[in-house]
Amino acid sequence: DADGVAAAVATGFRDVPDFPRPGVLFKDMTPLLADPVAFGRVTAALAGLARDLEAGAVAGIEARGFMLAAPAAERAGLAFWPVRKAGKLPPPVLRRDYDLEYGTAALELATSVVRPGERVLLVDDVLATGGTARAACELLEEAGAQVAAVVVLLELGSLGGRPQLGDRPLVALRTLP
Ligand code: PRP
Repeated sequence: DADGVAAAVATGFRDVPDFPRPGVLFKDMTPLLADPVAFGRVTAALAGLARDLEAGAVAGIEARGFMLAAPAAERAGLAFWPVRKAGKLPPPVLRRDYDLEYGTAALELATSVVRPGERVLLVDDVLATGGTARAACELLEEAGAQVAAVVVLLELGSLGGRPQLGDRPLVALRTLP
């Protein structure tokens, strides 16, 4: 149930101050990955959401989004689409540059896997400033997919990510102020 999932997220993340830069409070999901019961609760919830939204694919953002989206896609019997850090995928790819809380980065998507018009659930571990998720949505849409929703385990509300997603639905399994 929703309470069990929220509890799994609450206990699954560890706060690491000043990583990877001074002043950044890093949310480490290593404890969640190491707890098969909690991890299973979370991936089952993601798979259920994908089915409820009638998505045809589950996309995950490298690297931690992969660890969540791939098992969820497999559980739901859906395609998994990796949204990768730039420079890893062979062509043809679409690329989008974006700003991070601590620097800049670029994401790429292999266009060959995307079925035009397909509804996709985009998964990541944390929504902070929202730049990463927005860039991933823009890539998926440029490739012809429709973002049914963005789902994150943890939304860090104070960092203002939600408005970055515009009208796209955002589901947060747990929201911190
Ligand atoms: C982290 C996290 C999200 C993103 C959130 O990824 O996993 O993808 O930052 O930040 P934002 O909302 O401010 O854009 P990171 O870039 O550290 O990559 P990793 O998963 O490969 O460690």
